[in-house]
Amino acid sequence: MDAQQSSSIFPRPFVAPRTVMIRPLLLKPQWMNGLTERLLVSHYVNNYGGALRRLNAIRAHLATFDWARTPVFEINGLKREELIAASSVILHEVYFESLGGSGDNPPDALAEPPAELARALERDFGSVQAWRAEFTGIAKALAGGSGWVILAWSERLGRLVNQWAADHAHELPGAVPILALDMYEHAYHLDFGAKASAYVDQVMANLNWQRIGARYRQATGERADEDELFRPYGAPAQGDARISAEELKAALAGDSDRRPVLLDLCLPRDLPRRTDMLAGAVMHAPAALPRWVEELPRGRPIAVYCICGFQVSGTAVTELRRRGYDARALAGGITAWHAIGGATVPLDTSTYEEKRSIAPP
Ligand SMILES: [Fe+2]
Repeated sequence: MDAQQSSSIFPRPFVAPRTVMIRPLLLKPQWMNGLTERLLVSHYVNNYGGALRRLNAIRAHLATFDWARTPVFEINGLKREELIAASSVILHEVYFESLGGSGDNPPDALAEPPAELARALERDFGSVQAWRAEFTGIAKALAGGSGWVILAWSERLGRLVNQWAADHAHELPGAVPILALDMYEHAYHLDFGAKASAYVDQVMANLNWQRIGARYRQATGERADEDELFRPYGAPAQGDARISAEELKAALAGDSDRRPVLLDLCLPRDLPRRTDMLAGAVMHAPAALPRWVEELPRGRPIAVYCICGFQVSGTAVTELRRRGYDARALAGGITAWHAIGGATVPLDTSTYEEKRSIAPP
């Protein structure tokens, strides 16, 4: 994820070079328009995370193949599964990154594409409304089945296309996905039952057009420096102030004397959203930092996490680093940890500061 600075006391965790690393949620799952946190987090952890775990397991297994001696049915079977898993990972990332509000705000249901993308949609579909009608029409036609609808940029065709896909690995060659709409039942059943049409309309009211526009610019080779759009809001900007879930997992499996100290931070209002924690973590209220910071050992790396890795862990890590601690924020929080299959233990709030004695967030 990032280069280790020579001054850091964080161990250099060994993450296998073939590992495809998880991407954090950029949307705030508790603040979406008509899509519940339960649905979005289940989808991210179980389906996106599941595809990512499967992909990494397949790639590790493929690396052991003796290609001249492996039976062709094993090669065919595993390469097919690898393609399906990799395509699922990539499309889920486009899907989740296309949703959510801006900064700390919920999505604006009335938001429209940025001017440049709106002009491209107008050029290729007649109008933004015509594009939307076609895109949602294709999605609703997939109701009862499964698949994806993908707005993609095709360099060969010289235009944006709405692509129909019956499964994860069904793509127009060379086309770059700009926006992907997941029409597998797992994407909506928890909230909408069989009402796939209502789900499609709700997704369209949760789009983050800034990020979709940025992806269009990247696809057409006009990439601007827009990295902050694809970083969770409030996460530290510097790479060495963040740690990926895979790196943390490797670091925790290392020498016990160099293992990071784990801090679990949670706003009082978010306590009901929590059920578990990383083994060995100590839970605190962010507002009580001046008190609990005194208990932190100097000379030990510190990994801080919150639910999704937004400003709760980001703000604390910035403050801890200002005070001279080698602290890093877990990218994607405990949600990303769950998605890579990281182990947890039941939540222990015995170290959490009394709600009445801390300032409101
Ligand atoms: Fe999905």
